[in-house]
Amino acid sequence: MDGNGRWAYRRHLPRVAGHRRGAEIVREMVQRCVDAQIAHLTLFAFSTENWRRPPLEVRLLMNLFRLMLRREAKKLHDNGVRLRIIGDQSHLAADLQTLIRDAESLTAGNRRLTLNLAVNYGGRWDIARASKRAAAKCLQAGRSLDALSEEDIAAELCLADSPEPDLLIRTGGEERISNFLVWQLAYTEFYFTETLWPDFDGNALDLALKSFAQRQRRFGRTGDQVQEDACASD
Ligand code: FPP
Repeated sequence: MDGNGRWAYRRHLPRVAGHRRGAEIVREMVQRCVDAQIAHLTLFAFSTENWRRPPLEVRLLMNLFRLMLRREAKKLHDNGVRLRIIGDQSHLAADLQTLIRDAESLTAGNRRLTLNLAVNYGGRWDIARASKRAAAKCLQAGRSLDALSEEDIAAELCLADSPEPDLLIRTGGEERISNFLVWQLAYTEFYFTETLWPDFDGNALDLALKSFAQRQRRFGRTGDQVQEDACASD
């Protein structure tokens, strides 16, 4: 969700005004994904590197998360949305951790949309943590570490029970992953747009989904093989 700062700068507003507008867009996009029957949405709200921002901006962002959890948890629940926060929560304030736990347990049974919010998340942190957990389990089971498989590690990632993303949308014109779902993006389609996150609207989402619909996903196979499979299943 990139571009909040530039959106505010262009309007001679403080950066936090861009983040506030960005939070409104989050609400709108969640609804649009529910309406479009998209089952999983993962939003990168705060990376492990974002602590390097000015302390005031970090504090304001943390307050926005608090506000979102307080105001939106019940609405998300009523809308059939399961909310999960992924990332290293041990560095978040205690009250924020409590709000997260409460919102997650309130919405745990919902399945219309799973909304994963990445807060203090880093793809490399996720892989390192999963590797340690997988190795510990392996040793506990008396298995050699030589037997440790990709599946063992994947099973310990934050999003182990979610499918890998079909589409990654990055707003704000940059074309990089910035330590997002490093493991899970191996076969994801990428869509980069100049549109700043606070300007990302229904039309912008439709354009991204249209672009995705035109991609041929081969997963290592040839285009001919993919077409043959498509004909066979028709
Ligand atoms: C990146 O834009 C954005 C962030 C680091 C924060 C994302 C937060 C929100 C969208 C609002 C809060 C979200 C929730 C779920 C309550 P940037 O500030 O780096 O923009 P810039 O590149 O234009 O400076």
